[in-house]
Order: sequence, then C-alpha cells, then structure tokens
Amino acid sequence: MKLGSRHTIVGLLGAAVLCLLNGPLSALPAKGQTAPAGQPTGAKPPMAEDVFKNVQVLRGIPVDEFMATMGFIAASLSLNCLDCHTEDSGRDPAKYAEDTPIKQTARKMLLMVKSINAQNFGGVRTVTCYTCHRSDVAPRFTPSLAEQYGTPPDRDPNDIEVAQQPDPKAPTAEQILNKYIQAIGGEQRLAGLTSFTASGSYSGYDTDFAKTPAEVYAKAPGLRTTVIHPPIGESTTVFDGRNGWIAESNSLLPLITLTGGELDAVTVEAELAFPAKIKQYLTGWRAGFPPATLGDENVVVVQGTAPAGSRVKLFFDKDSGLLVRLVMFTNTVLGLNPREIDFSDYRDVAGVKMPFKWTAVWTDGRSEFEMTGIKPNVPIDAARFGKPAPASVKAPTR
Ligand code: HEC
Ligand code: HEC
Repeated sequence: MKLGSRHTIVGLLGAAVLCLLNGPLSALPAKGQTAPAGQPTGAKPPMAEDVFKNVQVLRGIPVDEFMATMGFIAASLSLNCLDCHTEDSGRDPAKYAEDTPIKQTARKMLLMVKSINAQNFGGVRTVTCYTCHRSDVAPRFTPSLAEQYGTPPDRDPNDIEVAQQPDPKAPTAEQILNKYIQAIGGEQRLAGLTSFTASGSYSGYDTDFAKTPAEVYAKAPGLRTTVIHPPIGESTTVFDGRNGWIAESNSLLPLITLTGGELDAVTVEAELAFPAKIKQYLTGWRAGFPPATLGDENVVVVQGTAPAGSRVKLFFDKDSGLLVRLVMFTNTVLGLNPREIDFSDYRDVAGVKMPFKWTAVWTDGRSEFEMTGIKPNVPIDAARFGKPAPASVKAPTR
C-alpha cells in the first residue's frame, strides 16, 4: 500500500479464521482449501486488531491476510482503497481507521455474508462478495436480454478445471513436468545451477509503469530475494527457505511477515527459480485438463497444491514445454485471491533456459520484470536472505 498511490499493492493470504465482533473464534472450512497451513519458524505474526485501530469484524487474522482481504473486497467491487476509505488515508495511513458510509455498508456486508454461509451452506465459505458484486459496486437484479442472446465473453483461461471425463491418452502430470524439466535443460544441468543473481528493471503502478532498477538473488534449494527501486523508495521481498517478508518503503506496513497463502505465493516463485524439485514441493498433482489456449498458444495445464493449501495451476507451452503461466489461488477469510505470473523471453544461462521477463498480476497490482543479465553460480552473502529491516517512511508524496 504505497502512500499516495491509488493502486495499492497488496496480495497476501492465510488461515480461514473469522472472528466476529469479539465472538468466539470460528474456524470456517474454506471451499477449495485442503492442506493445513505451512508452519514457518519465526514468532507468531501480529493479528490485524493488534496493528490496526478500528477492526470490528475481520479480527483474529494475520495482518498480511487482512490486507489480502482488503484486496479481495476491492477486486470484488472494482473499487480502489480510497473509494471506501477517506481520501487522506493515502497520505496518512492512520486515517484508514476512520469510518465512511460506504465502509460501514461494507462492514454490514461482511456480517451478512458470514450469516448467509452459516445459515445456508453449513458455514462453508460458499457465497463471497464477488458472488453478487461481480466486480461492480451495484449488483444487478434484472436478467439482461443482451447477455442472454449476445455472444458470451471469452472464459478466463485461469478458470480451467479438470475435465469431467479426462482423455485417457492425455499426458499425466508426471509426463508434463518431465517434459518441462527436459525443455529447460534436463535434471543434470539444473543440478549444476545452484545460485544466480539477476539485474534488470521493474515497472508497476508505483512507477507509473516507467522502468526502474530491480535485482533478484536466488540460491538453491529455494531462497530468493527481489529488490525493486521505485521512486517512492526501495521494496524488498525475501524468502529464506522457511519464512517470507516484504519490506516496502512508504507503505502502511514497513515490514510484513508473510503467512498462509501469502507465504505460498513467494515460496512457489522461489521454488520455480530452481524447478527440479517442483514435483516434490507441490503435492496432490492433477492433470487431465481440457485442451487450452493462452492467447494464440496451445497450452497444457497441470495443477498442484502448495504447503498452505493454495491451488497452483501451471500452463506449459504445448510445443516447447516451457512454463508460460503460473496461476495461484490464495486464501482470505472472504474468498480466494487469484494471482498470475506470465513468463517469457527464455534464454540460456549455464545450459538452463530461464525466463528473462515476467509479469505478475494480482487483485491489487501489476508488476513487470525484465532482466538484462543473469549471472549463474555466484556467491551471495547470506544476509541477502535474512529478515529485512523495516523500510523507510519518507515524507508523504502527495
Ligand atoms: C468496499 C469498501 C472497502 C474497500 C474497497 C477497502 N476497504 Fe479497507 N476496510 C473496509 C472495512 C469495512 C474495514 C473495517 C473492517 C472491520 O471492521 O473488520 C476496513 C479496514 C481497513 C484497514 C484497517 C484500518 C484501521 O486502523 O482500523 C485498513 C488498513 C484498510 N482497510 C486498508 C485498505 C486498503 C489498503 C484497501 C485497498 C486494497 C482497502 N482497505 C479497500 C472497507 C474497504
Ligand atoms: C447476496 C448478495 C450480496 C453479497 C454476497 C454482497 N453484497 Fe454488497 N451489496 C449487495 C446489494 C444488493 C447491494 C446494493 C444495495 C442497495 O442498492 O441499496 C450491495 C451494496 C454494497 C455496498 C454499497 C455500495 C454503495 O454504492 O454504497 C458495498 C460497499 C458492498 N455491498 C460491499 C460488499 C462486500 C464487501 C461484500 C462481501 C463481504 C458484499 N458486499 C457482498 C449484495 C451483496
């Protein structure tokens, strides 16, 4: 959440626990969630109500999941943060605590959704804000003849699900993943790549999509740090092999400890830097998706589950076998947040094909990375993968 920018960057998830108005903690079974949350090492992360001043409903969830829930709400109604919060919250994050009429309506809706699910769906999170709102502030209540008789819009390729009756000749998950490992260089060459540093550019809402410097540091088996330098101040994302953090300058939260699905998101990205172990890292593999395309490309899809239960879909180019998209669905108390990363511009680094370009899109942000150089097998100071210091808070920009 950059101060002064309407598009805030959020997107982290966690356990499905919703505590209502000081009521007892009620663990909601979450639709689409199976595995228990992964257990990182550090101390217990702070809960939303420990950090924020006026949290009445969304209590008992870690701060990163709370922010991811704000992202889920904003995406479900296609609103920006400041549409519900006062305009000056952008300059002074303490103002997010102030109530506005629309924020109060949203709070009532939180309770309404909870009670709809409790009364009709055995407490399973089935109805979400998106069920009614469909990316609109005002849900529609009259069927549309134009929609009924018009050409239906293209389906979102990320919604693809395993076919009811999968083609028995379709490749198995194992075969698809083996083809991928082969396509990027094979197990032996992958084993020879144990670290790399990459430098290039980042662009996003916080740079008005101008390119600013970015670096990636990665070390096998799955340690990864990304540093970006938007004008508003440096941002660092770290995964040390067990724990993840984001230190973001001029943000509401200068240091966030990642939990649940938010941790899954950085972990999966880190694992994919050294993909040889992806078969073990994700579990519950499924194949048998119907034929699919991404743009003009034919793709083959497999699905796995990350340690905290986030569903991950991998889209491989049908011909080259290279990974072209990663889609994840990460948990919030209200629903699942989608996020996708598209990979392109594969080039050879020490005999391994690596993407030099990737674009990440999630409910509240979009970032583009373009590397100009990747140096394989270089020593990296262990401190690079340590817990980052809280980022600086500069004078408000607007
Ligand atoms: C549809 C309206 C709506 C949108 C959009 C929205 N919020 Fe909220 N926000 C709320 C409500 C309601 C609460 C209070 C929740 C509660 O009481 O449990 C809240 C609480 C907060 C708080 C806690 C403040 C405090 O100190 O108590 C923060 C921080 C926050 N929102 C940030 C954001 C950010 C950042 C975004 C954009 C990603 C955002 N919100 C988008 C409705 C909204
Ligand atoms: C069962 C359907 C349904 C669900 C689920 C639902 N809403 Fe609504 N919501 C509505 C309707 C209908 C309205 C419009 C009410 C009106 O016209 O007065 C509305 C209005 C709102 C408004 C007021 C918009 C304005 O213009 O003032 C907000 C904010 C809102 N909803 C937030 C949420 C949030 C956040 C969630 C999820 C926690 C949610 N809603 C879930 C049906 C729903």
